[in-house]
Amino acid sequence: MTENKKISRRSFIKLMAGIGAVAFGGGIFTLRKTSLGRDIENQARGLLQDKQAQYLRQMITSDNAASRRIMWQAADYMSNPQIRLRLQNDKKREMLVPVQDDSFFDDGENHIQYSALLDNLAPDTQYEFAIEDGSSQSKWFPVQTAANDKNKFSMLIFTDSQSSDYSDWRNVAQNAMKRHPEAEIFTNLGDLVDNGEDSSQWRAWFSALEGIIDQIPFAPVIGNHECYNRDWKEQLPMAYLRFFNVPENSSKDFNRYYYSFDYGQVHFAVLGTVEKEIKNFKSGLMDEQADWLEKDLQRTTKPWRIVLMHKDVLQYRIARMPERKEGFSEEGQLFMPIFEKYNVDIVLTGHLHTYRNRGHIIQGKHDPNGPLYILCGLSGNVRYDRLWTDHALDEVVAPQPETDNYLTMDVEGNEIIFRCFLPDGTQIDEIKVIK
Ligand SMILES: [Fe+2]
Repeated sequence: MTENKKISRRSFIKLMAGIGAVAFGGGIFTLRKTSLGRDIENQARGLLQDKQAQYLRQMITSDNAASRRIMWQAADYMSNPQIRLRLQNDKKREMLVPVQDDSFFDDGENHIQYSALLDNLAPDTQYEFAIEDGSSQSKWFPVQTAANDKNKFSMLIFTDSQSSDYSDWRNVAQNAMKRHPEAEIFTNLGDLVDNGEDSSQWRAWFSALEGIIDQIPFAPVIGNHECYNRDWKEQLPMAYLRFFNVPENSSKDFNRYYYSFDYGQVHFAVLGTVEKEIKNFKSGLMDEQADWLEKDLQRTTKPWRIVLMHKDVLQYRIARMPERKEGFSEEGQLFMPIFEKYNVDIVLTGHLHTYRNRGHIIQGKHDPNGPLYILCGLSGNVRYDRLWTDHALDEVVAPQPETDNYLTMDVEGNEIIFRCFLPDGTQIDEIKVIK
């Protein structure tokens, strides 16, 4: 079944000439039934509007004090898309930024997509931009560049938003943004969607972020569920890699799987822990990444180093699987020595759908001089009720059975404070790291 409310470009322009601006959001992709999907379809259908551009998003770049990437989807090809950029409210000096057609084909659909890089920006400065196509122009959206010379910013942290119905994800993300409007940047630590090929899930995922991802930059992390096709077989994560144009990592085979970026005085290394899922198509992701991580951490001059990765570093016991012992995951065994060697301060992980603060660890034991390891919980509706047996390294565990949660990270000078909240805003943990 196909439902599609898209309008022709000519009628779109006429409509825009009448109302003067485009609002973003909603979805105008072709919808169809999926094994997972009636709830998702209904959710997306309710948001269908005759809009030319949607899912506008700001993406982090390697240097967020000087640049920002803008991406969006479109119902139909735009004739001459450009971005109009100016300092906030400075109507006298505006510049036009070229836009690239970044369309791709996946899940039986042509995803019309555009991408533009705003660069040579001044640090700690408020800009605004609008999308233009011929005589049509969108409303203005803010772009706040990072400050290089002061170490103060807030970040929202989500993980595992994969869902059968993305209303919980919408609720968690939207309420977090309302409660923490000072957030300048946000991440999701992987398994963004349940099925990485299913376009209806991506539509629902993006729709849930209207008013967030179009306002502040997003730093994505790839999870294993980004690597599943509609038959629940492993595949290369085409949609994830194309939806999120992240900084280059110079890799021939694994561009966009892992990357790094700076924000303020913090260097973030973002790892792609999907070797198991993609190894039948491409091998060598973990070894290549370990080499890259060493060089990346050697290169940075930022005082703070934070790693974002999907799969956790610890292995938890499961009561019904006695052969599975408490210990360290393959990812932990490979990367933890590198984190220790290069003085990584904090490691944020997901994948296990439980919130656990494990404190600081060196060589497998608690040590105040080691990296802080936080397993960040979940923000969708896939829950593992009391699945994991507590690990000896766990210091704080979320109340069981778990619902959803999110974290804030407040960076200020030589302190970083993490706070973990339930969806209703109840704080369940606070961790301060001092340098
Ligand atoms: Fe996962």
